[in-house]
Amino acid sequence: MTTTTYELASFISDLRTITATTTDPREIVARVRPLARELAIGKTWLEPKHYACDPAQGFGVHLLHEEGDHTLAVFAVAWLPGRGAPPHNHGTWAVVTGVDGPETNIFWERVDDRSRPGYAEIVEQARKVFGAAEAVTFLPDSIHSVINETADVTVSLHVYGKHINYTVRSQFDPARRVEQEFKVKES
Ligand SMILES: [Fe+2]
Repeated sequence: MTTTTYELASFISDLRTITATTTDPREIVARVRPLARELAIGKTWLEPKHYACDPAQGFGVHLLHEEGDHTLAVFAVAWLPGRGAPPHNHGTWAVVTGVDGPETNIFWERVDDRSRPGYAEIVEQARKVFGAAEAVTFLPDSIHSVINETADVTVSLHVYGKHINYTVRSQFDPARRVEQEFKVKES
């Protein structure tokens, strides 16, 4: 019996094909999701350095691929125990798949009328733990936060329509009702 493992290069090729066929983010994430799972399960791209985290940020962002115009960005993201990311959107479609360890995702809904710059009210809708090979998809305006509630560094595979530091996107403080720009530091 022969098996072929799905490689990053094949995944990128498939991403190009999908995004050349449609610009509908719902259709894109539906088609990318099973492929991202296969890539996450195969782990051919995963290296020890991808477990490195930025202590100030609480997580480590490791770029695996982006196109010359910053589209089709693929990252390994590592999360320190007890740390996470504040509520945020992505400004582009996203597919996140667990690779090593469970990560808790909290899903939020924005409920204000968006008329006041810098002001946002968001309400928690649900929370779910995603383990290895479990994928979650996001539309550009979807808001989530992430927490690593385990005692070990976790790693997940993140695929975005565009590198998240090149989209217009926000982080939210639900207690202070503040919306502000969200950039991540790459390792
Ligand atoms: Fe996110």
